[in-house]
Amino acid sequence: MKLCMIGTGYVGLVSGVCFSDLGNDVICVDRDIQKIDGLKKGVIPIYEPGLDELVLKNYKNKRLKFSTDLKNSISKSDIIFICVGTPTKKKDNSADLSQIYNVAKEIRSSISKFKIIITKSTVPVTTGDEIEKIISQKVSKKLFSVVSNPEFLREGEAIRDFIYPDRVVIGTNDKKSNRILKNLYSPLTSKGAKFVNTSRRAAELIKYASNAFLATKITFINELANLCEKIDVNIEDISIGMGLDKRIGGRFLRAGPAYGGSCFPKDTKAVVTTADKFNTSLSVIKSVIKSNQNRSSLLLKRVFNILKNKVKGKKICFLGVTFKANTDDMRDSSSLSMIPSLIKKGAKINYFDPTGEKDEFKKIKNVKFSDSINLAIKDSDLIIIHTEWNDFKSINFKKEVNKKNFVIFDMRNIYSPTKMRNLKIKYFGIGR
Ligand SMILES: NC(=O)c1ccc[n+]([C@@H]2O[C@H](COP(=O)([O-])OP(=O)(O)OC[C@H]3O[C@@H](n4cnc5c(N)ncnc54)[C@H](O)[C@@H]3O)[C@@H](O)[C@H]2O)c1
Repeated sequence: MKLCMIGTGYVGLVSGVCFSDLGNDVICVDRDIQKIDGLKKGVIPIYEPGLDELVLKNYKNKRLKFSTDLKNSISKSDIIFICVGTPTKKKDNSADLSQIYNVAKEIRSSISKFKIIITKSTVPVTTGDEIEKIISQKVSKKLFSVVSNPEFLREGEAIRDFIYPDRVVIGTNDKKSNRILKNLYSPLTSKGAKFVNTSRRAAELIKYASNAFLATKITFINELANLCEKIDVNIEDISIGMGLDKRIGGRFLRAGPAYGGSCFPKDTKAVVTTADKFNTSLSVIKSVIKSNQNRSSLLLKRVFNILKNKVKGKKICFLGVTFKANTDDMRDSSSLSMIPSLIKKGAKINYFDPTGEKDEFKKIKNVKFSDSINLAIKDSDLIIIHTEWNDFKSINFKKEVNKKNFVIFDMRNIYSPTKMRNLKIKYFGIGR
């Protein structure tokens, strides 16, 4: 099939490459000329395990193309996926849909034969209705069908998630579109993924409901970790004991820093504002958002306690600054608020991240990037394990750190407290 992905970010690039690998002809379009030029030369704009090999393979065999020419790419394709960003509007926390509606306007001037137009971007319920309205102002409804097909891939595991999804959700009442999309996704459903056909509005809401539920799970275990710290109980035991119940499940039930990334913070806010618009209060999700917003300051307080409130002049090392491992995405990472707060208190920050130096910290005085773990931790008073990269799981701290009384604050509970005690290392984890 001939596909066009509009927006070549995490979702557009990963799903475009995977669709081409499944035998489709795919054009990935972006308005970012530099990004497209880079991709044509084999420069992959994001860190995602396995992505570069797959891009090179499919670009070479010409099933995958990159372009900035939206009009031409649309006219050559049968199925158009909208994969542009839907960030949070600062004004009212709702989803900013300007990129979506701009694309809808561009699409309507490029349709001359039947196209399926799919929102893969996460969009509030009724956005599909609005896209249909915009396009039908210039194009007969017979020439297009607007479908919702939310994407559930996780950064860091995006390719595997795309190829082996739990489910493929298709929101449309149009039988022809449903049949074509069932066929498009058949290589995935034949391997066990469930195909869910529902209404467009339901598909839109399924995505928000799923993300809000996962954010709730994380926040729930984070709050329980706060209790565990007061009663000498290990939160890891609680996660295991709860997670083994099949009705609950162990995933997204590990205590740590506030949830971050490009999806949970913005999607929880957006679903709450959408519900408010329909005079419905999603009070559970509202309190999840509040609790998560408080989490970074709560963990900062713990840092101050660990340092006995003597932060000035202390050398603090962050191992990992992205919101989770195996991605270079810094969007809404808790390090973005923690590091500047520690700097304000007079700390000196050294950080190492396997995905390299971050623009976000380049201009902050007293924040330094080290290009190896050893260099980063060498002179530290406090080492904060912020992100759960495998690279951080077997460090010989005793050998690598020069300071005698250094402390470790393991925000991911990677290390065993007993082992650390035996090594005579001052060690703090989360909820234990
Ligand atoms: N990142 C994830 O893990 C993930 C997972 C599932 C769903 N989503 C959703 O998918 C959507 C996209 O997310 P992302 O992380 O891929 O975003 P992104 O910011 O990485 O990529 C969006 C791309 O769209 C391009 N773009 C914007 N307007 C354009 C236009 N008019 N023409 C061509 N290109 C245009 C931008 O230049 C950018 O490269 C969001 O709604 C997000 O919530 C993201």
